[in-house]
Amino acid sequence: MQIEKECHTPVRTWIKDLIRGFLANLEWNYLNLSFVKNTQLGRGVKIYNHCNIFGSNIGDGTQIASFVEIQNNTKIGKRCKIGAYCFIPEGTILEDEIFLGVGTKICNDRVPMACVNGKLKEKKDWRLSPVTIKTGASVGANCTILPGLTIGKNSLLGAGSVLTKDMGDNELWYGNPARLAASNFQLK
Ligand SMILES: CC(C)(COP(=O)(O)OP(=O)(O)OC[C@H]1O[C@@H](n2cnc3c(N)ncnc32)[C@H](O)[C@@H]1OP(=O)(O)O)[C@@H](O)C(=O)NCCC(=O)NCCS
Repeated sequence: MQIEKECHTPVRTWIKDLIRGFLANLEWNYLNLSFVKNTQLGRGVKIYNHCNIFGSNIGDGTQIASFVEIQNNTKIGKRCKIGAYCFIPEGTILEDEIFLGVGTKICNDRVPMACVNGKLKEKKDWRLSPVTIKTGASVGANCTILPGLTIGKNSLLGAGSVLTKDMGDNELWYGNPARLAASNFQLK
């Protein structure tokens, strides 16, 4: 089931904004079979079924396909397309008009561990290394983007890549590990 609704319009007061946000979140939760909590949704955002989205800010016109998780303190710009099964962890910034291919996984923890000294790892036990993807960039299907990296404007990361280094603007990279394949690259 897909629901399209202008769930958040520019509002004049903070209270109105708060109420709208609350209702929009309720709507996604109960009508759309997605869990959406503490999230600012822009105008015309589309969220398909079975997404798990919390503590995010999502810009106007962005589309999020099914089975996507978007975590706290993430910012997703306007007119982005997020493919099914993407994982967008805490701290990630996607600027405007970003394409994330299906199954893309973004990482934010350089040394993942379940436990520290026999106890489940908590927030205080690790350092967040967020990923930033700049305006107009695209990421092919099934990519893994390692923590702390930046993908530059209008660049493309080819399908199935593992990105281990920053990408500049207008660059094409692919492979595992991904390597620069073209500079002055034009997405078309
Ligand atoms: C990266 C990409 C744009 C390159 O396209 P291209 O410039 O037409 O490249 P070519 O097909 O001419 O391939 C050039 C070489 O790179 C290799 N190559 C291309 N894409 C690759 C990729 N993603 N990973 C590893 N190698 C790749 C090819 O095997 C070929 O190698 P060869 O010269 O040894 O034969 C394209 O392959 C790609 O990955 N597009 C993204 C598709 C996608 O994920 N869409 C979103 C979901 S539908």
